[in-house]
Amino acid sequence: MSTMVNFVSGPLVWIALVTFVVGTVVRIVLMIRTIKLDKTVLPAMTVKHSLRSIFFWTLPYGSRSMRTRPFFSGLSYLFHLCLLALPLTVMGHAVLWQQAWGIRWWSLPSGVADVMTAVVIFAGGIFLLRRIMSPEVRNVNTWRDYVILVIVLLPFVTGFIAYHQWLDYRTIIILHMVSGAVWLMAIPFTWLQHMFMFFFSRAYMGSEFGAVRNARDW
Ligand code: HEM
Ligand code: HEM
Repeated sequence: MSTMVNFVSGPLVWIALVTFVVGTVVRIVLMIRTIKLDKTVLPAMTVKHSLRSIFFWTLPYGSRSMRTRPFFSGLSYLFHLCLLALPLTVMGHAVLWQQAWGIRWWSLPSGVADVMTAVVIFAGGIFLLRRIMSPEVRNVNTWRDYVILVIVLLPFVTGFIAYHQWLDYRTIIILHMVSGAVWLMAIPFTWLQHMFMFFFSRAYMGSEFGAVRNARDW
């Protein structure tokens, strides 16, 4: 059992981090190569219009499309805020970084992190329900989309159970570490790559609308 814990909290973390970083870089390089084949995209892009679009689309309710569905936009904003902040600021992670690399890192009070974890699980549950119940979402869904959503939520569910010491701690923490590694590795290979593609598509749309059509895209 303890060799299992050593593996999932050691080499597996490295495998996951390297896969995440290398996969992401390869994705971006391939995308830029494809863009270059189209002679019209890059020359039409401007820094000003790109940053303007990214700014308004990352602001809460900054775009018209967010304002037209206020509940889901707010939920999605909270979901993303907690989801991105937690892996970097959970106390349990900071402890492991200190042990492994001697890094002293700022961490959230554990009660706050716990509430934020509950927010991610709650919002994710609503997204899952929407995917099952809303006809317009269900029609474009495949089984892969459900699997990906479950992959996204598992580290939060298992982290939550571990923190509260429900069930067998060792088993849960191993599941947590494995699901955390899968989470990271899934990002470059699934639609979770919107994490970085978002900025490119906003830059492109912002430039197309701003510099070419003289309009806003938010
Ligand atoms: C891959 C390596 C990972 C390791 C070794 C790891 C390890 C841990 C440990 C030891 C804890 C503390 C549990 C306790 O309080 O007893 C924890 C909590 C937590 N982890 Fe991870 N984790 C990993 C990945 C992730 C990822 C990728 C995420 C999120 C995407 C994540 C989210 C969380 C959350 C949200 C908690 C706290 C839950 C709460 O307080 O309610 N972990 N993790
Ligand atoms: C800076 C990083 C990110 C940005 C800018 C971003 C942006 C977005 C946007 C614009 C949407 C669609 C609109 C909406 O439903 O509100 C979305 C949906 C989603 N994102 Fe992200 N995202 C980021 C990172 C991530 C990460 C790291 C994950 C998980 C690993 C994630 C998981 C999701 C999920 C599960 C949905 C869809 C929810 C559903 O409707 O079923 N996002 N994201």
